[in-house]
Amino acid sequence: MSLIAYVNGEFLPIESATVHIEDRGFQFADGVYEVVACYDGRFFELNAHLQRLQRSCESIQLPLPFSLERMESIVRETYTLNNLDDAMVYIQVTRGVAPRIHMPAGALTPTLVVTVRPLPEVDEEKALFGAHAITLADIRWKRCDIKSIALLASVLAKQEAMHRGAHEAFWTNEQRHVLEGSSTNILAVINGTLTTHPQDHQILGGITRDLALRLAREHDIPTEERPWCLDEPGLSECMMSSTTNAVLPVVRIDDMPIADEQPGPVTKQLRELLLHEISAMCSS
Ligand code: PDD
Repeated sequence: MSLIAYVNGEFLPIESATVHIEDRGFQFADGVYEVVACYDGRFFELNAHLQRLQRSCESIQLPLPFSLERMESIVRETYTLNNLDDAMVYIQVTRGVAPRIHMPAGALTPTLVVTVRPLPEVDEEKALFGAHAITLADIRWKRCDIKSIALLASVLAKQEAMHRGAHEAFWTNEQRHVLEGSSTNILAVINGTLTTHPQDHQILGGITRDLALRLAREHDIPTEERPWCLDEPGLSECMMSSTTNAVLPVVRIDDMPIADEQPGPVTKQLRELLLHEISAMCSS
């Protein structure tokens, strides 16, 4: 059976679901998006994702197409029509269709697309043995807090990481601070403190990052949101967080092994705590 997509009020087989060639998402990357995980019919942190979508929309002066309640019901309905257990739901809002000119004349009707795909399998190998990363100078714009669909820099970074045999690329700024990954947030354990870049314009405020920080605090792991560098003394663990990965250990960055190149105890604990949150939600 074909997957079903929602496009501007219609539910269609994904092969025949299309948007206009003059959609501003296609021509200007003038839009924002979200990726939400659903486990056996239970959405993980759906409200937080929809609220972030609303913030992204507001940041680019784009009205959310519907109320948050209506957005939620469209997302749930699209999920239900796809008959999947664990799914990854993609929501995209663009400014709409208009002849290609930077400043469209008059108000447009936003384009709303929702697609549902099977949730990628948990990468047991990376969870057990850790992932490898490279660092790259951040070439993105100065509003990384907006979940923009303009992802060319991230695509190039991921391509470079794969080319160099790594799994993720970490963006660093001119001060050599580790900001975030091409599609993940990055956290490190430095002198026993879970440390991650503060939520500013240089990173996306990840829902999983927030949750990892909350779980750490609840389990007496000290946390600090501050700029940090890879060569700081006392750095013993590194991990990346995202909706599709939960928390995954990173054991090598460029040519530098982290500690003994084994996933560390805080990373393992946080991964377990996150997976426990997900299974507790599924059984509640
Ligand atoms: N990426 N930083 C960036 C640049 C991201 O693209 C993502 C998510 C994250 C993690 O955010 P969250 O924990 O809310 O998923 C951080 C998604 C999954 C994607 O683009 O597919």
